[in-house]
Amino acid sequence: MSILQVENLQKSFGATKVLDGISFTMEQGEVLSMIGSSGSGKTTLLRCLNFLERPDSGRILMGDEVLFDASDARTLRESEIRKKRLHFGLVFQNFNLFPQYTALQNVMLAKEHLAKERPDYKANKHRIHQEIEEQARDLLVQMGLKDRMQNHPHQLSGGQCQRVAIARALNLQPDILCFDEPTSALDPELTGEVLRVIRELADKNTTMIIVTHEMSFARDVASKVIFMDDGRICEMGTPQEVFENPQQARTKQFLSNYTSGR
Ligand SMILES: Nc1ncnc2c1ncn2[C@@H]1O[C@H](COP(=O)(O)OP(=O)(O)O)[C@@H](O)[C@H]1O
Ligand SMILES: [Mg+2]
Repeated sequence: MSILQVENLQKSFGATKVLDGISFTMEQGEVLSMIGSSGSGKTTLLRCLNFLERPDSGRILMGDEVLFDASDARTLRESEIRKKRLHFGLVFQNFNLFPQYTALQNVMLAKEHLAKERPDYKANKHRIHQEIEEQARDLLVQMGLKDRMQNHPHQLSGGQCQRVAIARALNLQPDILCFDEPTSALDPELTGEVLRVIRELADKNTTMIIVTHEMSFARDVASKVIFMDDGRICEMGTPQEVFENPQQARTKQFLSNYTSGR
């Protein structure tokens, strides 16, 4: 069974149709690269998966659980949405770290909030906190930030901030980790360190959706590529199919902007 099934998502903002019938599936351990021009709907699609936007129609299934069904008229409670959102981790272009907290605190925060809802929290507060801290430390070490845990975001480079943000997303153990142009806000010399940790995650079979303009990375890391154009999936296939033998004129045109040295 597919881990993720997206069925015919539609989303308009006013009169503008931003997603126009998006359907695709993902398997466990698959890495999906999503490419396409600015304004083609990539961010909106990730936001719909993460319950930051509500599609006008369509369904989202995680395994056999229906996460979202636009035809279901019932209004979801905030607590239900929070729970559904945990299936996905989201890493933003601009990191979105809390400036007043250290790297370690940024990674721990969401998990500490969740822990407070546990029935055994009061009795085991100290132990639970220690466990959360230990996991956060492990993740920061994994991200190559062993010596940076007590630094605040303003004391870190963009590449380091983004690696903190990746650790934070991983800490909630999402089924699918989503990246929205994770290197677009970085100086070129810091791009490599972030792409490297994403590649390591791919090598560990982390299921990921990566929106990126780094074409060679998109091609190398992915098992599946989607080219978005004007709210639709214009082309979908293996990296070889999409990059080496694109079938659609729009895909060829889009890719030629990159091969001609952009
Ligand atoms: N909250 C919003 N309100 C109105 N229009 C929006 C909103 N979010 C996105 N859009 C529009 O939707 C289209 C797709 O945007 P987006 O999903 O950000 O594309 P991409 O990430 O591929 O650049 C754009 O035309 C954008 O202006
Ligand atoms: Mg975007």
